[in-house]
Amino acid sequence: MREGRALLGTNADAQIDLRALTEGITGLDRARQLMAPEQLVPEPFAQQLRHAFEQRAQGVPVAYILGRRGFWRHEFQVTPDTLIPRPETEILLEWALELIPEDQPLTIADLGTGSGILSVCMAAERPCAILLATDISPGALAVARRNQKAILPTQSILWILGSWADSLADESLDMVVSNPPYIPQDDPHLFAGDLRFEPQSALAAGRDGLDDYRILIHQAARVLRPSGWLLVEHGHDQAQAVQALMHQEGFTRLDTRMDFAHLPRASGGQKPSL
Ligand SMILES: C[S@@+](CC[C@H](N)C(=O)[O-])C[C@H]1O[C@@H](n2cnc3c(N)ncnc32)[C@H](O)[C@@H]1O
Repeated sequence: MREGRALLGTNADAQIDLRALTEGITGLDRARQLMAPEQLVPEPFAQQLRHAFEQRAQGVPVAYILGRRGFWRHEFQVTPDTLIPRPETEILLEWALELIPEDQPLTIADLGTGSGILSVCMAAERPCAILLATDISPGALAVARRNQKAILPTQSILWILGSWADSLADESLDMVVSNPPYIPQDDPHLFAGDLRFEPQSALAAGRDGLDDYRILIHQAARVLRPSGWLLVEHGHDQAQAVQALMHQEGFTRLDTRMDFAHLPRASGGQKPSL
């Protein structure tokens, strides 16, 4: 920890990272670290810790150093091919779960699945549902598949390599969920902090950040059955624009959900019934 502080500094964020890396590598949780600050860790762990602290000092996100991140009730493998799961995405998941009955075999697609968090959690919480997930990144899809095998070894999800809903049939789905890239391509945040280590293809979406919504909302109107729901995550300042795109494509009952910071974070709508 002393070596870590020398590398990362002593501010609160650095302390959180040091404790998380120490817990992830040694298994000593925060309480045990605090109770026994002078405890020595065995040399193989010490070497791993030194390496981890050096990587963090170079800016590598903690989740990539440990190769995993918790989301909902599960631990997901993440690699530099995948976005690091964010807590805000649980808002989208909770909304989807409210709309998926426990006893009906609804067909649901997770477009742009990344590490698979949404499809795996929906499959875990609603075992009757039939889950499909697409991603344009073969690397991300491989990670998602591994996560499903580790977390839900007895269930299956149909993993599809391809763009959004390109390969899905007309009126074949009851629900579409997606957390697409939504950051404007010249937003300086893309080139700072953890984001600079994450795949640009998972983050940036054209000049206004809305390029992927234009495509996937249009496609969702085609692949959803009448009365099917579309739910998407978006940036805190994009709710109006996303709702307008949904309205243009004929979706009704438009609604927006707030995140933990009371910022608009997910919007959804229903395809009209016949
Ligand atoms: C913001 S990340 C979300 C990942 C995951 N759903 C999550 O919430 O952590 C967006 C994902 O969309 C994928 N993606 C980008 N363009 C795509 C496209 N044209 N078709 C399908 N997936 C795409 C990226 O590879 C990335 O995995």
